[in-house]
Amino acid sequence: MVRKESKHSILILGASGFLGGAIYKELCSYFRTFGTYNTSNKSFEKNSHFFQYNMEEDDIYEILDIVKPTIIISALRGDFSKQILLHQHLAEYVFTNKIRLIFLSSANVFDAYVKYPSYEQDKTYSNSIYGHFKIKIENMLLRLPKKQIAILRLPMVFGSQSPRVQEIVQLVKAKEPIEIFPNLIMNVNTYSKITQQIHYIINRNKSGIFHLGSHDLVHHDDFIKEIVESFQLEETAIYKRVYTTNNDRYLAVLPKLNKLPKHLQLVSQDILSELKI
Ligand SMILES: NC(=O)c1ccc[n+]([C@@H]2O[C@H](COP(=O)([O-])OP(=O)(O)OC[C@H]3O[C@@H](n4cnc5c(N)ncnc54)[C@H](OP(=O)(O)O)[C@@H]3O)[C@@H](O)[C@H]2O)c1
Repeated sequence: MVRKESKHSILILGASGFLGGAIYKELCSYFRTFGTYNTSNKSFEKNSHFFQYNMEEDDIYEILDIVKPTIIISALRGDFSKQILLHQHLAEYVFTNKIRLIFLSSANVFDAYVKYPSYEQDKTYSNSIYGHFKIKIENMLLRLPKKQIAILRLPMVFGSQSPRVQEIVQLVKAKEPIEIFPNLIMNVNTYSKITQQIHYIINRNKSGIFHLGSHDLVHHDDFIKEIVESFQLEETAIYKRVYTTNNDRYLAVLPKLNKLPKHLQLVSQDILSELKI
């Protein structure tokens, strides 16, 4: 029997998305869990735990006033300047109401460091617009009391229902090329593990910066080819090699200080094994 813990009310911003949706499914049996969606959708409209919210037009305070969350999880995409403004409002609300915010960030906050993988305490450094935008929000949140924030830096996220894996399968079926980056060395994660990692962070009141990636590193091209093989599609797959630099380039977030327990850690092979099931 599933027991609802009344301890927390959780608001997931972007609960209609890939990761927000997976996080909602993981948490909704244990906590009072609410979510936002942006694109109109009949099943969300009928669900009293879902609120339609467009950051370009709507005021987040209305939803915050109704839900009165003790934890907000930010899993949004969309216009960068609107997201920055929203997170300024969220930071004020979190501080005033002494609640917690979990922010899904990205390995791209380190995308200008090409020679090494990155650890939690490393200074962020990016040369992409996306990386700069994530750094801006991280820095805003890092000014809040440490206990109130969790910044989760994620590498590429895979898993059978992930948009990345579904796109690979569709491209093979359509006989179109899959882009692979032979110089890119990265770590990886899967949504089924990320949702468990977030559940643990909530249950144990963990805070700070987390690097939620596999403990091993993979070459992007090898890993994508292994995904293709796990679906036994290797005979028909066509690849397009994309070289962004002449040398190997790292995009990997490894944990050193803020490690999760063993059962919540993963290696890249776990993701491939899960796809074969
Ligand atoms: N997926 C990855 O591999 C990965 C890797 C690293 C970091 N991340 C981070 O994880 C977070 C979630 O990523 P995801 O892949 O799950 O994204 P996603 O599937 O594209 O979901 C994005 C969510 O944002 C909502 N949204 C879009 N425009 C909006 C707007 N104008 N106003 C309000 N909500 C809006 C979408 O709502 P509708 O769908 O209803 O329009 C959806 O719920 C992002 O912050 C991303 O940077 C993801």
